[in-house]
Amino acid sequence: MTKKITIAIDGFSSTGKSTVAKQLAKELGYVYVDTGAMYRAVSLYAMNNSMITENSFDREALIEKLPSVNLKFIFDENLGFAAIYLNGENVEEQIRKMDVSNHVSKVASVSEVREKLVSLQKIMGEEKGIVMDGRDIGTVVFPNAELKLFMTASPEERAGRRFKELEGKGEKVSYDEVFKNVVDRDHMDTTREDSPLVMAEDAIEIDNSFLTVEEQFDIILSLAKEKIEE
Ligand code: DC
Repeated sequence: MTKKITIAIDGFSSTGKSTVAKQLAKELGYVYVDTGAMYRAVSLYAMNNSMITENSFDREALIEKLPSVNLKFIFDENLGFAAIYLNGENVEEQIRKMDVSNHVSKVASVSEVREKLVSLQKIMGEEKGIVMDGRDIGTVVFPNAELKLFMTASPEERAGRRFKELEGKGEKVSYDEVFKNVVDRDHMDTTREDSPLVMAEDAIEIDNSFLTVEEQFDIILSLAKEKIEE
């Protein structure tokens, strides 16, 4: 039987982590977990329950209600990956909207939220055979992962990709708004006190500014195969 490994993919927002992580999981027959979706779902919960408004964030109220935030991933045949459910409701589409993106870094800076999500993530990875993407997977969630990747690309490139994606879904946003969101989130994600986004010492950095999706996938698949065969 071939060895199963843990693959941690971290990096800045809109670096295409989830695209490559999904492809890799499919190719290897591994489970794919999008941890950004978990932080986004908690943010949606806070927004739906008036804990977050345009100008305010009631951290204490969210912390108090955390035990009643129930997250689950359920495989969706049409999507080809697991969709996230918040308290029984499929919120996969809602969590990708711009208003959630604008608030998620605040929610991800709350230590109690991180503790809850990290412990769920650790449980999901207990049996290995997993590709997990996020910001702290190689540093906090799976410090012993066999393969750690750190994805980067210029903010302009990332904002351009994200803008196209949102536009394709019919969302009315401007490139400038998306660019500002990318830069603001980079800042908040790298400067927060709890588990800031940093590259793990033993991670391999992949700058995909000038790589096609296929080129990137080939590089990453061969890195994964090397580790599996080690
Ligand atoms: O990957 P994403 O853009 O969907 O993530 C949304 C936000 O969640 C991102 O701005 C930072 C946060 N996040 C985090 O703090 N830790 C993770 N493991 C994943 C995401």
